[in-house]
Amino acid sequence: MRRATITGWGKCTPPAVLTNHDLEGVMDTNDEWITTRTGIKERRITHTETSDMAAVAGRQAIAAAGLEPEDIDMLIVATCTPDRIIPSAASYAQSKMGTTNAACLDVNAACSGFIYGLSIANGMIATGAASKVLLVGAEKLSTLLDIEDRTTAVLFGDGAGAVVLEPATGDDGVLALNLGTDGKLAEILTVSGFGTEALGDTMSQYSLTMDGPEVFRNAVTQMGEAATRAVADAGLVLDDVDVLIPHQANTRIIDATARRMKLPPEKVYVNITGYGNTSAASIPIALTEALESERVGPGANVLFVAFGGGLTWGAACVRLGERVTALGTSDVRLPETTATGLELLMERQDERRRRRGTS
Ligand SMILES: CC(C)(COP(=O)(O)OP(=O)(O)OC[C@H]1O[C@@H](n2cnc3c(N)ncnc32)[C@H](O)[C@@H]1OP(=O)(O)O)[C@@H](O)C(=O)NCCC(=O)NCCS
Repeated sequence: MRRATITGWGKCTPPAVLTNHDLEGVMDTNDEWITTRTGIKERRITHTETSDMAAVAGRQAIAAAGLEPEDIDMLIVATCTPDRIIPSAASYAQSKMGTTNAACLDVNAACSGFIYGLSIANGMIATGAASKVLLVGAEKLSTLLDIEDRTTAVLFGDGAGAVVLEPATGDDGVLALNLGTDGKLAEILTVSGFGTEALGDTMSQYSLTMDGPEVFRNAVTQMGEAATRAVADAGLVLDDVDVLIPHQANTRIIDATARRMKLPPEKVYVNITGYGNTSAASIPIALTEALESERVGPGANVLFVAFGGGLTWGAACVRLGERVTALGTSDVRLPETTATGLELLMERQDERRRRRGTS
């Protein structure tokens, strides 16, 4: 059976930066707490919709693969912050980037979305249902941030990352992959007021709530187990893993997972400092950075692992091909903005307060 291999990669990190010091000015928090508890120093806040970031990252990935947008036959956007419920963010992204021959769908497995999307893409390529899949992770989590809840507002950021997947011709590609969900834990990380249960509520009250310590505990266990299983299923041992690219939720979670797996820190890719938790976008952004900075080389065994609301988790062991340089670049960018991250955040907070009638 044929398997999918990564032939293109790209990212979109919005220009507006929101630092820990910015947050100190508007809520009861401080840089020291955020840095020591999470590893985050700053995050990006987008002035666009999710599909705009998806389109920019997607065009970069298509160019890196040496393809044209029309070559893509399947577009999957992993997101839990789509522009709208209907149509999918993938549909909007398709029209924005010109992937006119692609069938489109969104995947929502929260922060595990990229791995779930990878599983779907791999399956479609294996069965011949698709041969050039664009998989994008794109999130506008700033929409959900409520500065009145310091336990979550400091954690998240916006961004998008993308990969192109095509049938492997050598021994590269998706070697093994596993997914899991525990619906009993659904309430420990949830965005309420946004779906059928909230019809008529005009979405005025939605906000993100989370039992952080409980998420932490489950994340470390499930990520460690899923990643270890993916390595074994790929017929490899831990020493064969060249780099672990985990979902970037918290450096302490990443460190604990690596320790549990007995992986040395130099084999773990961490970029949370500059982006915060970008949910489904974090792995493809990190992968793109790792490739662009030559942190991973030809034929590298890369281990992806993620967890997220649901509670969902997944891991994938992927061998890169011999080509780890982009065949082309795209000059598609987000529209310019002069707004700062803090201004964008406060605009949304003012709107939230107005709707709640508390301004
Ligand atoms: C959220 C998280 C960073 C909190 O860290 P923690 O060490 O568990 O901290 P706690 O929740 O126990 O809170 C410790 C104290 O810090 C305070 N605190 C919480 N957020 C704070 C903030 N932004 N600034 C300052 N203090 C804060 C709490 O109020 C608490 O104070 P108290 O002891 O006086 O009650 C951590 O639990 C975590 O990362 N969980 C996983 C979350 C995650 O990854 N979610 C995404 C899933 S994809």
